[in-house]
Amino acid sequence: MAKQVELGPTGRPDRIIPAPKKLDRHGPARIIAMCNQKGGVGKTTSTINLAAALARYGRRVLAVDFDPQGALSAGLGVPAHDVPTIYDLMLGKLKDPRDAIQKTGTAGLDVIPANIDLSAAEVHLVTEVAREQILGSVLRKVVDDYDVILIDCQPSLGLLTVNALTASHGVLIPLACEYFALRGVALLVETVDKVRDRLNPALELDGILATMYDARTLHAREVLERVIDTFGDTVFDTVIGRTVKLPDAQIAAKPILDYAPSNAASEAYLKLARELVQRGAVA
Ligand SMILES: Nc1ncnc2c1ncn2[C@@H]1O[C@H](COP(=O)(O)OP(=O)(O)O)[C@@H](O)[C@H]1O
Ligand SMILES: [Mg+2]
Repeated sequence: MAKQVELGPTGRPDRIIPAPKKLDRHGPARIIAMCNQKGGVGKTTSTINLAAALARYGRRVLAVDFDPQGALSAGLGVPAHDVPTIYDLMLGKLKDPRDAIQKTGTAGLDVIPANIDLSAAEVHLVTEVAREQILGSVLRKVVDDYDVILIDCQPSLGLLTVNALTASHGVLIPLACEYFALRGVALLVETVDKVRDRLNPALELDGILATMYDARTLHAREVLERVIDTFGDTVFDTVIGRTVKLPDAQIAAKPILDYAPSNAASEAYLKLARELVQRGAVA
């Protein structure tokens, strides 16, 4: 009798992804934009928890809050008001990103916060020279201090998101396993293609991450199947299940690895970190 092969939720064999090797030197960072113009798909949650998972594996990680909502800053428990933010760096009011970088409760994980000020940035930057390249020039100053920089994008395809894509080596697209998940993804991929053509020829699509997956519903299984039919191997093996522990952790201002280490979502984000290293998207 043939040996039974366990299949993961993606329908692929559930393979074991080894823990990444320890790094003996650090940097320069690979920069990854966490991007989807749809809100509520798990961008911020995935940025926080992937960042914490990579830090757990000894990577030096900088998470950049690039959404005026400031959810990343809040979720990592750092102040975002009356402190220097990404906005000050984008406008050149602050020259050295190190003056805005804050440590988090997770060793190896730093953050540049954002607050509502950032919503004014698009207007201010429209008249700037090389306005799409400003974030890139900010992050270049600290790229040697980190192994990976994750940018938590806002839900739009405007100038800030174009800045994130222009600054990045790769883009990771979180997709919630809900109806209409695929709606808008074509437009996002088109934007990525345009940025690659015009501004950032090296930009890679690192992968599509299925989030909020509930294996008990036929509906989620159907959506995931369609996502895989459409995007094939670009979809990560790792699928993030739906759990209330993720919003709970965000309210507690901690990564899930600290808040509920034995929850399946903790292992899922660790697996995503391993998968990114295995794919060569992170050192
Ligand atoms: N896997 C998940 N299971 C349950 N809730 C989730 C999951 N991922 C994210 N959430 C919750 O869904 C909401 C939207 O997620 P968020 O990461 O903020 O999305 P985005 O940054 O794309 O707008 C948040 O309240 C978050 O806590
Ligand atoms: Mg968000």
